[in-house]
Amino acid sequence: MDAIEQVKFGIIGCGNASSYHTLGIKKDPNPNIKFIAAYDINDRNLNRVSKRNKLTAFTDFDKFLQSDIDAVLLLVPHFLHAELTEKIAEAGKHVLCEKPMACTLEECDRMIEATKKAGVKFMIAENHRFLPAHQYIKQILDKGFIGDIFLARTYEGAYCDPQEFLDPEFWHFTFDKGGGGVVMDQGVHKVAMLNWFLGKVESAQCWCSKTLKSPPNKGEDTAIILLRYKSGAVVSISLSSTTVHPLNNSTELQGTKGTIYEDHSWENPLKIFSSHSEAEKKGEFYSPSIPIEHGAYPQYYTISARYEDRYFAECILKDREPEFTPEQAKEAVAVVLLSYLSAKNGKITTMDEFRNFAKQKGTDKILKDFLPVIQNNYKNLNW
Ligand SMILES: NC(=O)c1ccc[n+]([C@@H]2O[C@H](COP(=O)([O-])OP(=O)(O)OC[C@H]3O[C@@H](n4cnc5c(N)ncnc54)[C@H](O)[C@@H]3O)[C@@H](O)[C@H]2O)c1
Repeated sequence: MDAIEQVKFGIIGCGNASSYHTLGIKKDPNPNIKFIAAYDINDRNLNRVSKRNKLTAFTDFDKFLQSDIDAVLLLVPHFLHAELTEKIAEAGKHVLCEKPMACTLEECDRMIEATKKAGVKFMIAENHRFLPAHQYIKQILDKGFIGDIFLARTYEGAYCDPQEFLDPEFWHFTFDKGGGGVVMDQGVHKVAMLNWFLGKVESAQCWCSKTLKSPPNKGEDTAIILLRYKSGAVVSISLSSTTVHPLNNSTELQGTKGTIYEDHSWENPLKIFSSHSEAEKKGEFYSPSIPIEHGAYPQYYTISARYEDRYFAECILKDREPEFTPEQAKEAVAVVLLSYLSAKNGKITTMDEFRNFAKQKGTDKILKDFLPVIQNNYKNLNW
């Protein structure tokens, strides 16, 4: 491929996620990136986002792909990620695709194969890998400030408009178009982060519930997952899309040499305790004095998406493979699907059992007849 000096992006999908990415942020423009084109099957969304961001609006998919774009930012429902990634790659364009990679492992494999075959750069837009607070945590973990992690707790709660659950036509949280409820939609972020910090998962146990009486095509809005990593670390992931507060994330890591508390609703998202000699304050809780770019939701999302877009553009310009590999993104989907399988089995399920299931039956079978697995908790709740 010819060397270029600036990556010209087109977007597919002009919905909610487009507002998080660089094109929705006027602050801090990056000379490496220019958004020039958009395609959506919904004319209203297409025209609104194109007009606001001065993009050429395409209603013809092939013409969009043939236009003067180098890369596509894919912002569409999950069941379309594989099919559209294949088409974008075949057209010779680089692909930055929103999380989760896809609804099944087989679809993930198709995406990896198509982008490798076409020789284009491919990254899943997992913004939790690009949050400055998470990158700081990763650095101090690598320096040994916390020692060996043996216990972790992580949470994502988001207030989603209840209509998103109650409307059967709205694709988010559906089994067929969303690949499941909150475990797929939000849990995949947490798993991608934990895998980065802790390595490979050995086994899982998950419980799913509905706190809203959503239609039968919708998955769980609330869940808890317990994971055991191969390192021996045990972890709980709490997830809900019906919390009354706006989107927030928090994580607690306990290690043999220290503790990290992270909460994105705090002004400084990190508190650290470490017995390591190089820690900023040894043996007492402190917040790092170096500035960590941060702001409560929606800022921490727009900050991370801006870094993610910039990083992917740099990979294209410098001809480097992204550090967050498609295989790692696939592994996050694998842990999500393992969690669903454990909920269905009603017992702890190992990654080996999951891989056997995947081989024999295919991962698209996991969410089949899943509805009875979800506890109907809404009967007990007074909203
Ligand atoms: N990283 C994050 O923080 C974050 C936040 C929100 C959403 N997301 C992800 O972004 C993606 C999009 O989610 P969203 O919330 O923006 O959804 P959305 O429903 O708000 O927008 C999706 C858009 O895709 C369009 N679309 C549907 N089918 C299409 C097709 N065949 N061709 C072209 N356009 C099509 C729709 O018309 C709509 O405009 C999902 O993968 C989601 O998980 C990520």
